[in-house]
Amino acid sequence: MNQYFVAVLLAVVATAAAQGFYEEEIGAWHFHTYFFEVNPSKTAEAIAFRKATRQMINGGDLPDCSLNQIYIGWDGPHPVSQWELCCNKTGYAAAHSWHTQNHGNLSVLIHPLTIYDIEDHKSRTSWLGKEVVIDAECPCLYPELPQPRPCPVYPEYSDELPDPENPQYETPIRGTEDYLQLNKDFDILRDTY
Ligand SMILES: *[C@@H]1O[C@H](CO)[C@@H](O)[C@H](O)[C@H]1NC(C)=O
Ligand SMILES: *[C@@H]1O[C@H](CO)[C@@H](O)[C@H](O)[C@H]1NC(C)=O
Repeated sequence: MNQYFVAVLLAVVATAAAQGFYEEEIGAWHFHTYFFEVNPSKTAEAIAFRKATRQMINGGDLPDCSLNQIYIGWDGPHPVSQWELCCNKTGYAAAHSWHTQNHGNLSVLIHPLTIYDIEDHKSRTSWLGKEVVIDAECPCLYPELPQPRPCPVYPEYSDELPDPENPQYETPIRGTEDYLQLNKDFDILRDTY
């Protein structure tokens, strides 16, 4: 190998590494608190924790974080009920501290939002409490998104336990279906319709 070749090789590797870092840049973080909807004490604990989280947001103590709605039952890749706090990177430390100190008996999945939705739910997960089995093969996950996504500011979703039989329950699209196939208006980057 001559020196010129080595220099070119190093430049190519350095460019690839820099690009990889950019591509894998974290747009935001999700904190998913799981509960078993058939277990009244777990459900009550999850709802209480959710309401306390709402108070923290309203008091300005969880900056750059927003609460997505409560999901009852399986909603791929999540096997059981959960609610999610989405935080921009600037809100990560406060949200991690809050969950660490207050998750009680509940399992919390923490994962980043990069362009690699599958990896985010598979190899980039961390947990508070016991791990829950995640369906990282769920076709609802995107192999590659065009860009990292920040957290939307969600509408003020209810903090009460929803009744899935109630037509007012705003479940977007459940299960493993491709969101885009079922709802052409779904925008994964903004998580809105
Ligand atoms: C996250 O950051 C984006 C801008 O990058 C901003 O539009 C959005 O409101 C922020 N979300 C929250 C929950 O603060
Ligand atoms: C956790 O579970 C224990 C035992 O069931 C219970 O006494 C305690 O109140 C629970 N913690 C919270 C935060 O609900």
